[in-house]
Amino acid sequence: MEIPLPWEAAPASLTLSESEIQVWQTTLPQTEEEAAPFLTLLSADERTRANRFLVPHTRAAFAGARGALRLLLGAYLGADPAQLRFGYGPQGKPALEGGGLHFNLSHSGGLALCAFSLHLPLGIDVEQLRPQDTAAQLARRFFSAPEVAALEGMLPDRRAEAFFTCWTRKEAYLKARGEGLGLGLGSFAVSLGEPAAILRSDEGEGECRRWRLWSLRPRPGYVGALCAPASNWSLRCFYK
Ligand SMILES: CC(C)(COP(=O)(O)OP(=O)(O)OC[C@H]1O[C@@H](n2cnc3c(N)ncnc32)[C@H](O)[C@@H]1OP(=O)(O)O)[C@@H](O)C(=O)NCCC(=O)NCCS
Repeated sequence: MEIPLPWEAAPASLTLSESEIQVWQTTLPQTEEEAAPFLTLLSADERTRANRFLVPHTRAAFAGARGALRLLLGAYLGADPAQLRFGYGPQGKPALEGGGLHFNLSHSGGLALCAFSLHLPLGIDVEQLRPQDTAAQLARRFFSAPEVAALEGMLPDRRAEAFFTCWTRKEAYLKARGEGLGLGLGSFAVSLGEPAAILRSDEGEGECRRWRLWSLRPRPGYVGALCAPASNWSLRCFYK
């Protein structure tokens, strides 16, 4: 059993070494009022996107996640968070225009995770654990055969957590590659237990060895995963 990574309190200043990945967790605003300071940091297109969310707490979560991302990027780069400009990959993966730092973002159930590195493409995903009565049907629809078999081999009371563990690992891998669901969720298989790993891929053994997955346990009731190209990166996790 792999020991979960510790979460450290935010350091006074943010620095990122060549061989390091840093992950941050942040609690998202739930109301318009709480989201207001984050909204002021967003670009015009992000504000337009925020306004398309009709449910107030979803709008607040979007603004909070983008705003927190901007604050962290600004702190790493010594730049004004509101002046940062994002470009988007073919499947919508955001990146800093002009480069400077790689990042990825995920949010679920009022919690956001942001991952940063100097040179590595990253993918991160978090899910709030919730009862999943349709886990078996969803798994048969979205997961690969080895993942479905592993899930069905588990005791029923472990299945919801294993489902979300599998889900976040698959998403983190897709997001590291910058893909949407077009890659085919059945074209690769991840482990459901520890250690987190890509077990097989239609693209061959080399593709499995090319990537590393980490399990993230940001707080009780949530599971997450991080994916980056394989090597001996050190990973530090912070909360604010
Ligand atoms: C968009 C997607 C990359 C992730 O979406 P998600 O898991 O619903 O949401 P998350 O909060 O984890 O991630 C969204 C963030 O990822 C980033 N993102 C968007 N497209 C991305 C891409 N192609 N690659 C990497 N990151 C991406 C953005 O920062 C986005 O945040 P935003 O709302 O501020 O723009 C995509 O995989 C998707 O549509 N997934 C649908 C869910 C699904 O069916 N999953 C099956 C897993 S088994």
